Amino acid sequence: MASVLIQNGSIVNADSTVHADLLIDGATIKEIRAGIPASAAQTVVDARGLLLLPGGIDAHTHLDMPFGGSKSADDFETGTRAAAIGGTTTIVDFAIQARGTKMRTALDTWWKKAEGKACIDYGLHMIVTDLPDAGLEDMDEMVREGVASFKLFMAYPNVLMVDDATIFKALRQTAKNGALICMHAENGSVIDVIVQQALAEGKTAPIYHSLTRPTVAEAEAVHRAIAMAEIAGVPIYIVHLSSEDALNQVREARDRGLPAFAETCPQYLLLSLEDVADIGWEGAKYVFTPPLRERRNQAKLWDGLRADHLQVVSTDHCPFCFADQKALGKDDFTKIPNGGPGIENRLQLLHHHGVGQGNFSINRFVELVSTAPARIFGMYPKKGVLAEGSDADLVLWDPAEDYTISAATHHMRVDYSMFEGFRVRGNARDVYSRGELIVSKGEFIGKPGRGNYLRRDARGGAWT
Ligand code: URP
Ligand code: ZN
Ligand code: ZN
Repeated sequence: MASVLIQNGSIVNADSTVHADLLIDGATIKEIRAGIPASAAQTVVDARGLLLLPGGIDAHTHLDMPFGGSKSADDFETGTRAAAIGGTTTIVDFAIQARGTKMRTALDTWWKKAEGKACIDYGLHMIVTDLPDAGLEDMDEMVREGVASFKLFMAYPNVLMVDDATIFKALRQTAKNGALICMHAENGSVIDVIVQQALAEGKTAPIYHSLTRPTVAEAEAVHRAIAMAEIAGVPIYIVHLSSEDALNQVREARDRGLPAFAETCPQYLLLSLEDVADIGWEGAKYVFTPPLRERRNQAKLWDGLRADHLQVVSTDHCPFCFADQKALGKDDFTKIPNGGPGIENRLQLLHHHGVGQGNFSINRFVELVSTAPARIFGMYPKKGVLAEGSDADLVLWDPAEDYTISAATHHMRVDYSMFEGFRVRGNARDVYSRGELIVSKGEFIGKPGRGNYLRRDARGGAWT
């Protein structure tokens, strides 16, 4: 197996920054210390001026995801390639149990989607859409297969939404099998009434997607989800948290010592309702759920990241092309496929706006984009840290590179960027996955299909 010595870089982990050399032997990190001789490795890389970061972990992606007769535009090949170029070496995608079918069928389907395509390692969450009593054992079977987390929806009635009894049963089962419930927390029934009223009044433009989903509907669901987890005595993870109202619920729960975790996404930190208020049909590019919020929420989310009320930043990457897919909702915002692209830009945006603008340290950045998701989702210390024995998933990060985000140059298979024209300082230069150089000077040089399925450990949610 090849050995690589990376010299003269700054090795950044969530809890430290050290100037040392890092020796990769095969797929893992063999040694980290100052003064490892060049003779120790077949290849020597000079990382002077660069940071060595643990590879990014994006715990929320939707590749090749079916949606209303269409599917998300990136498959496991194009999506994971774009992720790697942006410095992400692991994703956790979502398999979806079709109603009335076994979770096993969904798992097999998603493995097939990834087979021969995934460019980086990937885990899977399971979206639970129905849970007869026998389904509780299916959950245990999934955990044995390394699916250590399940997503449930409190929104999208008649499609994905499950009732409180189902949620509570699933939560209680995780007390036995150690899995973590991830919650899409919005009050779908209330939202549906508001949506139907808007349509009846002829309000069909994309902006009404946002205007029909109040932040209180998110906060109420977050509160209810955490309350049910408290009764069941288990941890809970709120996905794609978007607003101050919802954040307050998580903060209060954590202040009471409850194991409530939450993620937010770059779109909620950097884009706002005000940005899309006057752009008409173009607003379809920003139709995702929860929707964009009033700008005043952004500072609260940054505060939440700083204070550890929010633990993770993921992308919720779920791309649909503007020209032909978002167009399905031209006359009715409820038919616009929900989701936006971002898998490639998460580290760039968080580094620039988080570290560069003084919101938090480089170590907290690493924690938010890699270490915390590794811990919470049962991948640590194999992933999420630069340490002896860990997988050699690492990014040589150039903190001084100036880069402008654009659909013209990005690698995601989608015809627009949510962050078009955003200028960032800091970018991934070289990326290693299990010791293999897969991105060199920003160019992907790995092979599709080299990514492995990750069997994740349960009880990651026990981490606080
Ligand atoms: O609009 C979104 N977020 N689409 C992806 C599905 C989900 O709810 O995460
Ligand atoms: Zn969701
Ligand atoms: Zn999602």
